[in-house]
Amino acid sequence: MAERPSYRRAPSTNIPRQGVYRPHDSKFGIVTGGSRGIGAAVVENLAAKGCNLLLVFTSDSSAEPTQKLCAKVQNENNVIAKSVQADLSDPSRSVPHILATAKNHFSHPKSGGFQIDILINNAGIAGNKCLNDEKEGPIEETQFHKMYNVNVLAPLLLTQAVAPYLPKDRSGRIVNVSSVSSSIGYEGQSIYAGTKAALEAMTRTWSRELAENATVNAVNPGPVWGDMYAQAGEAFWKVNQKYVDAAPLCKYNGDDETKRRAGGDPQEFDKIVRQGMGGMRPAFTDDIAATIENYFLKYYLYHALTWPQLSFVAVVRTAKPTAYPKVVGYVLAKMEEDPSDNIQHGHITSLSVMRTHRRLGIAEKLMRNSQRAMAEVFGADYVSLHVRVSNSAALHLYRDTLGFTVEKTEEKYYADGENAYAMKMDLKDMQIKDIPEVDDQDEGDAVGSAGKKAETNTNGEKMVKVRVGRQRGVADLVEKNEGTRSGY
Ligand SMILES: CC(C)(COP(=O)(O)OP(=O)(O)OC[C@H]1O[C@@H](n2cnc3c(N)ncnc32)[C@H](O)[C@@H]1OP(=O)(O)O)[C@@H](O)C(=O)NCCC(=O)NCCS
Repeated sequence: MAERPSYRRAPSTNIPRQGVYRPHDSKFGIVTGGSRGIGAAVVENLAAKGCNLLLVFTSDSSAEPTQKLCAKVQNENNVIAKSVQADLSDPSRSVPHILATAKNHFSHPKSGGFQIDILINNAGIAGNKCLNDEKEGPIEETQFHKMYNVNVLAPLLLTQAVAPYLPKDRSGRIVNVSSVSSSIGYEGQSIYAGTKAALEAMTRTWSRELAENATVNAVNPGPVWGDMYAQAGEAFWKVNQKYVDAAPLCKYNGDDETKRRAGGDPQEFDKIVRQGMGGMRPAFTDDIAATIENYFLKYYLYHALTWPQLSFVAVVRTAKPTAYPKVVGYVLAKMEEDPSDNIQHGHITSLSVMRTHRRLGIAEKLMRNSQRAMAEVFGADYVSLHVRVSNSAALHLYRDTLGFTVEKTEEKYYADGENAYAMKMDLKDMQIKDIPEVDDQDEGDAVGSAGKKAETNTNGEKMVKVRVGRQRGVADLVEKNEGTRSGY
């Protein structure tokens, strides 16, 4: 298996392996607790997508690994990554220091402009103690304050300090790293669970208060593989077993790729998971980083916003007329932005129909609608797509029903190593050819003063007759979508 970090690209139907997607180019983000674990994985993930970063770490022992991580992501991704040491248990002092360091390194050298696009409130401390704990004694107030300072007050003060520098166009992103502990009632986590529940409550409040600047979300990782979890021991793994069992992607079959991702000694990992964790692995930090950076949603939105004419959904309505229609299928399509053959053409990025609604002709209809729009609206000469060689249903649809032809086979096109057929279909017949313009007579009689024939208007300006219609470019602005009227 190739040495390629999984956060670089999630598996998909049609995004080529070579494509380097950098949606965060020239953005700036702050990641607290960026020295290790989930924070470090988030740093690698964001940097791979072009984001410049400030990594906040606390302890002296983290200084060296954090600097190494900065150097690594800078070298690999051509971004700027700096670190700052700040004790988040004393946020009134450390938050201004973080902001000052960020401004120092990331303000525009000439204009002084300074924007924070992304804030990941990831740093947190954990600890277990039951009420009147048999071994460790009762919970003390100082323990409460320390954990609430780091896990609640620090994100609150940092987010407040960052707020004036967020984008003004809602493009900012704030993600708070919470925990499943906030809602499931782990024994011994009175304080920790409370801090995470508070963080989630603040998340909801901030998402409203900062709605004009940024989305604000929280993620709730369950058990995550790392030094801390490996050392927690069997008793703690047992407590977590039922949550890991419920996570469908954590099934472990001992494959090399999973062992490689775990890092460290693969044999030891294998033994721990098989013997201590019931054959289900905990999540990896880059699984969590991928949750934080949901680039797929953005990719979909990008299509929908850039070429709204080309993507379609199929919906079904319930008997209740006011109920919202349910989406049962979609086609996501685009125009090729920089066609290598210099021929204007469209591309099908993704197509799917819910299992319950297959073999009803929905995919065919979605595809035909999209193809027609490509030809009519954008003058596409052809449409292209990729399909897994093993996907016989889609292959039948494209080749036998729609008339695509296989152009070539692309080796290992998909992230899991499967080959793809690159397929094409000519659309020239669907293009709207220039219609000779007929000088239409106005059929209506003059109505009121607006229709009155006059050389000048009341302001004395000369009135000029303006032609409108397809030949004047209006057609380019109008979405022609006949399919929507006929049932889907
Ligand atoms: C492929 C997929 C989109 C087809 O959706 P659908 O709505 O069931 O397809 P349609 O009803 O429009 O079928 C049109 C034609 O496709 C072909 N087809 C669809 N499902 C097929 C199947 N299971 N086996 C063989 N041919 C199939 C047939 O040629 C069919 O025409 P026919 O019914 O006249 O024989 C659907 O199976 C799906 O969502 N699959 C999972 C996602 C996917 O593979 N997407 C394509 C990625 S490239």
